[in-house]
Amino acid sequence: MPGFTGLRSSVTALSGCISGAKTIASVSAISARLVSETGHVRSNWLACIQYIENGAMSVNPQLTRRRFIKGVIFSGAAATAGTGFYLANAQSGGFAVERLITLNINGRSRPVDVYPTETLAYTLRYKLDLTGTKIGCNRGECGSCTVLIDGVPNYSCSVLTHNVKDKAVISIEGVKAADGTLHAVQQAFIAENAPQCGFCTPGQVMSAVALLNNNPRPSRDEVRQAMSGNLCRCGAYEHYLNGVMRASGQLA
Ligand code: FES
Ligand code: FES
Repeated sequence: MPGFTGLRSSVTALSGCISGAKTIASVSAISARLVSETGHVRSNWLACIQYIENGAMSVNPQLTRRRFIKGVIFSGAAATAGTGFYLANAQSGGFAVERLITLNINGRSRPVDVYPTETLAYTLRYKLDLTGTKIGCNRGECGSCTVLIDGVPNYSCSVLTHNVKDKAVISIEGVKAADGTLHAVQQAFIAENAPQCGFCTPGQVMSAVALLNNNPRPSRDEVRQAMSGNLCRCGAYEHYLNGVMRASGQLA
């Protein structure tokens, strides 16, 4: 399969095959758009191509003008929705998995259309509008995307949404009380001036909540260990530590 850098030439080849069959006059223009709108459309048009043993491409005999255009329209709609890079991964898994699933998010059932390889962080932010969960590194290193899955803190950027279908997910939006009262951890973080830029704060809150749910009066070292998966580029670690100690009632 050609690399993504070879996309334009591949599309041009595809364009030639199709236009040679007197089908789409504007395929080249559409193809250029496919290239410019990143890889998320790649799998659509790759599905139209067959690869023969020597590596050369040929057009899938099942490809019709109607199918090709439908694929382009679908891809364009996805790009317009701002799904960009993530759908490149999402669509690569194909469509064998049922996409319309129901998630349990913050105690509510949320039906959502999810690609097979879509991450939970992406689903929360861009499908469910729960933007309190932050995506920092998007590779399981910083902890800004931390959510609770069945009470356990997880990096949501590294969890497939399809894998939490039967689990209870709590994001930062689900931490406060029903009447809007902030969680004790949130109040303590404010009291200790823990958030600086605030980007890491939702993840810090989630890790602290998980810790205190299981260990209401942790030692300072236990707090340090429990929060070690949450990086803070502002360096407010001691403030967050103090916040957790305050939330546990061990700091006057
Ligand atoms: S964004 Fe998930 S760990 Fe950094
Ligand atoms: S408060 Fe800025 S990254 Fe932690």
